[in-house]
Amino acid sequence: MSTLPAAFFPATTPPTYSRADFGADFQWGVSTAAYQTEGSWNAEGKGFSIWDEFVRGRRAIKGRETADVASDFYRRWPTDLDLMQQLGIPNFRFSAAWARVLPAGTGPVNTKGLDFYDRLVDGCLARGIAPWLTVYHWDLPQALQQQGGWTNRAVVGWLCDYAQVLAHRLGDRVQHWMVLNEPMVFTGAGHLLGIHAPGRRSLGAFLAATHHATLAQAEGGRALRAALPSSAQIGTTFSCSYLTPWRPGLPRDERSTRRADAILNRLFVEPALGLGYPTADAPLLNRLARYVQPDDEARLPFSFDFWGVQNYTREAVRHSPYVPLLWANLVGAARRGVPYTQMGWEVYPESLYHMLRQFGAYPHAPRLLVTENGAAFPDVVTPEGRVPDEARQAYLRACIGQVLRARREGVPVDGYFAWSFTDNFEWAEGYEPRFGLVHIDYATQQRTVKDSGRWYQRLLAGEEVATAANGGLSISQATV
Ligand code: FCB
Repeated sequence: MSTLPAAFFPATTPPTYSRADFGADFQWGVSTAAYQTEGSWNAEGKGFSIWDEFVRGRRAIKGRETADVASDFYRRWPTDLDLMQQLGIPNFRFSAAWARVLPAGTGPVNTKGLDFYDRLVDGCLARGIAPWLTVYHWDLPQALQQQGGWTNRAVVGWLCDYAQVLAHRLGDRVQHWMVLNEPMVFTGAGHLLGIHAPGRRSLGAFLAATHHATLAQAEGGRALRAALPSSAQIGTTFSCSYLTPWRPGLPRDERSTRRADAILNRLFVEPALGLGYPTADAPLLNRLARYVQPDDEARLPFSFDFWGVQNYTREAVRHSPYVPLLWANLVGAARRGVPYTQMGWEVYPESLYHMLRQFGAYPHAPRLLVTENGAAFPDVVTPEGRVPDEARQAYLRACIGQVLRARREGVPVDGYFAWSFTDNFEWAEGYEPRFGLVHIDYATQQRTVKDSGRWYQRLLAGEEVATAANGGLSISQATV
């Protein structure tokens, strides 16, 4: 148990704010992803994805859970969208499941699968909610994995073709598109650490996947541009964490922090800007050269209309002689004695401010939107049917205050999407970590709006004057 330290909310944070402070054009929303919410994993012609496969592997997922049902969004979307409308949420970011649309990854379209997204888009619009579509949120068709998946250069063309299928069908109604969700995570966790699908643990697989994902990010942007009306806004999303040396001032921790920053925060961003891979700070990335073909350098940049910034925590980095090539590892929040969430992630809202500053500082950076931000805490439903999740509420309030702080300092950030609308399947962590503004009882699929969801509703209605400072609330569920 811990009360948030005062330093957690720096003096420059606006002490209070309301929706009006962000201006009328600021985009507010919530985010989800297909595999984490839809369930119906083999319904109506859907093909298998690498996640359908991975969750069936031995001990891949905590509690041996799968997302076969998840939050049952495939069947419950009309009532979920009703709830979103009641909460006054104007923008909804979700992803399409590639294997629902193209069961074999390429080739014939599964009409019923594509029809689902068509109805979902219409359902959003009918309720006054703007759909924001992520083309790829980690669920590669298993049929493509059998051909090497992200390690096969052909994935660039596969992704472009799939993106165009979506664009041709939905492009008359979907204005906002995102090519990839967090390439650093699906390449790193999926190909180097083996903790996400497809469960590879190979430096070569990671490097190949990294180069192909970087190419696919840009080529996917071009494929969308070619297929969409000129008014479409095309973006992509990046994971990021503000990094600080574990022992500030110690040169080897400082160098390790720069190396980790190049890999965790810059790797996919800089090639998109035409800056190439950040090899100077992370020489290990020179090994990408093996996968780079003559024309690739010219193909890596793409002028996105926006970048989605996705931030949950900060990390402390220390030099390590035991991690070859990277020579760094992360010192966990528990070890550092700071408050952390159910994911073990440090509660540190200022990280979002620092990352917005870092991304906004690139010359020619496009506009930024926070396309994911949130926190997992264990929730309790009271007998009266309330979920008093003050820790999550305090976290969101502080983070949104940090967005305003960056915006007031001139960072071109003009959107904020909370992760997530409802509780859902948190990848390798299963159902235990709860990120939703809406609670789900998985035994009954009953939805209960959490206090944080009510708070977000009041904020969006312009009724809430939020204190960005702690305001006496403690993150009582955060553990120290
Ligand atoms: C991000 C993912 C998202 C969700 C959150 C908690 O890395 O994009 O799907 O799992 O983390």
